[in-house]
Amino acid sequence: MSVSILNVGMRENEGPLLEAASNASGHSLVHTVSDPVEAGRWAGEHQPDITVVDVRWLNAQGIDFMRRFRADRICMGLPLLALVDERDRNHRRESLRAGANEFIHAPLDAYECQVRILNMLTVRSYRKLLDRTSTLSAAGIDDFTDYASAREREILLRLARAGEYRDETTGSHIVRIGKLSRGIAEILGFGGPECTIIEAAAPMHDIGKIGIPDSILRKSGPLTDAERGVMNNHTLIGYEILKDSSSPFVQRGAQIALAHHEKFDGSGYPYGLRGQDIPLSARIVAVADVYDALTSKREYKVAWLPSQACEYIANHEGAHFDPECVKALFAKLKADVSRPRPASKFVPKLVAK
Ligand SMILES: [Fe+2]
Repeated sequence: MSVSILNVGMRENEGPLLEAASNASGHSLVHTVSDPVEAGRWAGEHQPDITVVDVRWLNAQGIDFMRRFRADRICMGLPLLALVDERDRNHRRESLRAGANEFIHAPLDAYECQVRILNMLTVRSYRKLLDRTSTLSAAGIDDFTDYASAREREILLRLARAGEYRDETTGSHIVRIGKLSRGIAEILGFGGPECTIIEAAAPMHDIGKIGIPDSILRKSGPLTDAERGVMNNHTLIGYEILKDSSSPFVQRGAQIALAHHEKFDGSGYPYGLRGQDIPLSARIVAVADVYDALTSKREYKVAWLPSQACEYIANHEGAHFDPECVKALFAKLKADVSRPRPASKFVPKLVAK
């Protein structure tokens, strides 16, 4: 695989970056441009797989470049990597706000570069596949529609798994979230196609964590207020990754990624939306996500019993959670418990006496 990298403004030794790119891809082409305006023109024409912006040198010009890059119709979905000084919190925050997907800290470290570039190439390749299947489907190739839909859902799930690798959760967490969200949607009266969309989109809720630095995402102690602010940006980053897609699955994924931490009483983030202003799909995923997190084992906690998790959720009904979604969750859990289980295939051996 050949990878094209646009280097905007980096004047220092590119060795670790080149090494990382070739380790990740086998072959890479780096195009270096110091003028951000010229770099924007080049990006629009060539659509590089990764664009690295040296914010340390370019300062406001670099931030402005990223903003214009994200607003550009052709470049808006392309991966954007900001090179920042680890201690410069302002540059890190401004880069995130301007649309950076990832950071590389200076001085460059080959291993760190490689991991971040691999993450971004994974997202890039899935995005390319999604765009291709959406285009074929939109072109009205009827026989292809079901196939494309199934492939698209599979790719979404794999993309969500890629994001989960950086977090403490597991792949089964995102599958459960999809199924539980579907169950809640069914009880709320959603139609079959809409339930399928929610099941496919729900696992994408935390995909924006791919853009949160490891030092914050994997911190073992409590986060400071500033770190919490960066962490909360995973909602905005997830939205940036998924927005403007022609796929209904990805569109719903963008909506859920943006709003799954809003709370029913308006005390959530990123916008403090309240009640019905929060998209229903995000209200569904909010309750499914918390229920699954509580009943799952983590490094820092044991798994709660379903009854304990339900008690917690009931206590936060109307504040954190939509009461209708809570009711539907409880109905779904009750239905699952009372559903007859398949008979055991174990047949005891008769021992002749
Ligand atoms: Fe989240």
